Amino acid sequence: MSRLAGKVAICTGAGRRNGLGFAILERLAREGCNVVVSDLGSPDRFLGADNIGATDEMRAVTDELASLGVGALAVPCDVRREPDVKKLMDATMERFGRIDILVNNAGVGYMLKPFLENTLDEWQLVLDVNLTGPFLCSQHAARHMIAGGRGGRIINIASQAAKSGFPHLAAYVSSKHGLVGLTRTLAIELGSAGITVNAVCPNHVTTGLGAKQNAYYAALRGQTLDEFMAAMRNRIPLGRPGMPSDTAAAVAFLASDDAQYITGEAMNVSGGEENH
Ligand SMILES: NC(=O)c1ccc[n+]([C@@H]2O[C@H](COP(=O)([O-])OP(=O)(O)OC[C@H]3O[C@@H](n4cnc5c(N)ncnc54)[C@H](O)[C@@H]3O)[C@@H](O)[C@H]2O)c1
Repeated sequence: MSRLAGKVAICTGAGRRNGLGFAILERLAREGCNVVVSDLGSPDRFLGADNIGATDEMRAVTDELASLGVGALAVPCDVRREPDVKKLMDATMERFGRIDILVNNAGVGYMLKPFLENTLDEWQLVLDVNLTGPFLCSQHAARHMIAGGRGGRIINIASQAAKSGFPHLAAYVSSKHGLVGLTRTLAIELGSAGITVNAVCPNHVTTGLGAKQNAYYAALRGQTLDEFMAAMRNRIPLGRPGMPSDTAAAVAFLASDDAQYITGEAMNVSGGEENH
């Protein structure tokens, strides 16, 4: 497949082998796309080492992507920090001379807590990463896309939580609903420059932060993880939870010329579990 040959894609939060971001970049690379792997790199006060893509892992997955025969670059970037975001775009331009596809994938979704116990700091962190990050990255990437005159693709990794409420995830659900609002507005403003802006809304993927959410909800309901997963499979019309490759395939489609007339959409990748 070479649907994306010669294009350049940046994906944030893509430095972990088990995460959706890596699966997305692997799929884009298999379609011939050059890839920029970005992630936080080092832990901070809220984002502990076991929850982030560390620099070593980011470099290792970048080498793995380069072995597929495309250009691959690793750039640490905290999406909450505008100077980092600017550096991410500048490093991409310096190496590849163009930005065609931005995937806003970095996200924090494992701070599950009853609403009445949520602190303002926790709320702010989730909003900063999940919503302000895509605002900053989209703005900086879109400027380069417009200057390049070739249009572009912005794809936001939202969630089932962008369309439905979930207990103990007030900030996450709010940030993902907000991300769909950002998607719809940017689609209108950037359409004249040939930039499409869409969101992908996966349901439960059992890797990455999805695994943490599943473990939390199983305990909350007094179920074993196996019981919780069995109930989930029963609920999903297509009979299984999502896989990273499902989301990656949707992103590759939206990034391709086949999706050139699709913008402002929030596309479910949920096996029919979410039907609005
Ligand atoms: N796994 C699921 O079930 C599921 C379902 C729906 C949506 N999503 C969304 O998919 C995306 C990826 O999630 P995942 O499941 O791969 O989880 P993950 O925890 O493996 O990936 C999230 C990534 O974001 C990075 N990140 C966190 N804060 C950052 C910051 N400030 N700057 C840059 N990067 C930062 C982390 O380092 C990590 O690599 C998220 O936006 C998530 O909300 C996941």
